[in-house]
Order: sequence, then C-alpha cells, then structure tokens
Amino acid sequence: MPTALITGATAGIGAAFARRLAADGFDLVLVARDKDRLAESAAGLHDRYAVRAEVLAADLSTDAGIGAVEERVRAGVDLVVNNAGFGNKGAFLDVPVGDETTMLKVHCEAVLRITSAALPGMLERGRGGIVNVSSVAAFATRGTYGASKAWVVSFSQGVAQDIAGRAGGRVRVMALCPGFVPTEFHQRAQMDVSGVPSFMWLKPDYLVDHALRDLRRGVVVSVPGPQYKALVAAAKLIPAGLAGRLSSRTGRRYD
Ligand SMILES: NC(=O)c1ccc[n+]([C@@H]2O[C@H](COP(=O)([O-])OP(=O)(O)OC[C@H]3O[C@@H](n4cnc5c(N)ncnc54)[C@H](OP(=O)(O)O)[C@@H]3O)[C@@H](O)[C@H]2O)c1
Repeated sequence: MPTALITGATAGIGAAFARRLAADGFDLVLVARDKDRLAESAAGLHDRYAVRAEVLAADLSTDAGIGAVEERVRAGVDLVVNNAGFGNKGAFLDVPVGDETTMLKVHCEAVLRITSAALPGMLERGRGGIVNVSSVAAFATRGTYGASKAWVVSFSQGVAQDIAGRAGGRVRVMALCPGFVPTEFHQRAQMDVSGVPSFMWLKPDYLVDHALRDLRRGVVVSVPGPQYKALVAAAKLIPAGLAGRLSSRTGRRYD
C-alpha cells in the first residue's frame, strides 16, 4: 500500500486529506503536536478504512520536530502533504516578532526541509508527490502570513522546475492555494470571519478532491474554486497595493 504523510493532520484541511487518502487506500503518517488527538484520529481512520495510521507527534516550529519528520520521510513515503500552519492575530507591529519567526519556521523552513528529505527517495523510486499548502493570500500583500505563503508558491514552482524531466515526470511538486475554508484556523487566530460571504467558503472535501486531481494532472500551482481562480487572475492585473488593501479588508479583522 502507498503511504502518505500529512502534517497538521488532526484538524481542518489536513484531516480532510487524511480521510480522503485513507479512503483511497493509503497508509497514513499523521503529524501534529497534540498526541492524544493524533491517536484518536489514527484509531478512527484505521477502524473506518482498514489502513495503517501511524502517529508522529512533532512541533514543526522546532528543529527536533522537523528532524523527526525528515527522518520518517527518508524511510520512504509516496505522498507528503505539508499542510500544518496557522495565522497570527493582528497586523505586523501588533504581533510579537517571535510569533512571526515561528510562522516562518512552520510555513517555510519545515516545508523546505521535509521536501528536501522526501524528494531523493521519490526520484529514486520513480514516483511520488508533494503538496505544499499555501493560500490565495500568496497573491495579495498580507503581512508575514501572505509573504510566507508566497514563498511556498515560489519554492514549489522552483523545485518542480528543477526536477522536471527526472523520473519520467512521475514525481510531482505542487503548491495548493485555498481560499476560505471552514476549519479551526480562524478561531485559533482569533479572526472575525463573520463578514465573509457564503460563496467564498470552500468545503474541505471539495478542496482536497480538486487538489489531488490537479496533482495527478501535473498542475504546479493549484487554485481550487472558480471564484478564487477569477480572483487570482484579477489580482495579477490590478496594482499590488490595491490588491493588498482589498485583501486586508476581507477576513483580516480580529476579535
Ligand atoms: N482555513 C483556511 O481558510 C485556509 C485558507 C488558506 C490556507 N490555509 C492553510 O491551510 C493549512 C491548514 O490550515 P487549517 O485551516 O486546516 O487549520 P486548522 O484547522 O487550525 O489545522 C491546523 C493543523 O496544523 C497543526 N499545527 C499547527 N501548528 C503546528 C506545529 N507547530 N507543528 C505541527 N503541527 C501544527 C494543528 O495541530 P496541533 O495544534 O495539534 O499541532 C492542526 O492539525 C495551513 O497551512 C493554512 O495556512 C487555510
């Protein structure tokens, strides 16, 4: 059976990937910080889908946590979903700088190191996939969060380019750029999203379905949902400052 490792697998988008990949017959390695919640998720997925579900408790804002995941992917996995992430409450000067550098560690350094650890084995075996979860915020100026997610897009594009033509194109790297998804994300960041219109919310299962289809097709930057495809196309046409101001007004209010 193929194995998928998912970071941030206990909630939201990561949990949706875990359910879908288990239903598709993948054995799972579930990564997050909360060990009890991981164990509960693993047991539930094993019982429902009869797959092996390993628990790997790791804090990806630490070298030890990233190192444990690097070690596990070097032992061999077929699909990696670098999904763990969070938002900080407030605009740049309101956020302690340590919280911003923690974000860069989880959103950028962990993604870089896990990708680097996973790819050689995938290229050797001639198959594999890496999904790096970014955001549509990558396409509009949006503080450290948007900057870190823009890095994920650019990094994934660069790696995809560097491995193009190797392993017969059967190893894929893709940046996934969701818009608003109802998860624990906004509550954890104390964001007030009550003003976000209903058509802007993407269902997690729809997002995952779209992402896996794009990965199969060799798409490098996946933007699920026609509303977000249109927004991203428009963001490339209007001045960056205006895109940033509009983006900040939608969904960047804090409780
Ligand atoms: N929801 C949205 O609207 C939206 C939109 C665009 C992009 N995204 C991106 O999607 C990804 C998943 O977010 P989500 O919406 O599913 O959020 P979520 O429901 O809050 O889930 C976040 C997951 O990440 C884990 N996590 C957080 N910090 C971690 C750390 N330091 N080390 C290891 N695991 C950690 C959490 O588990 P523990 O707390 O147990 O560690 C949890 O499993 C993030 O990268 C986010 O930026 C979300």
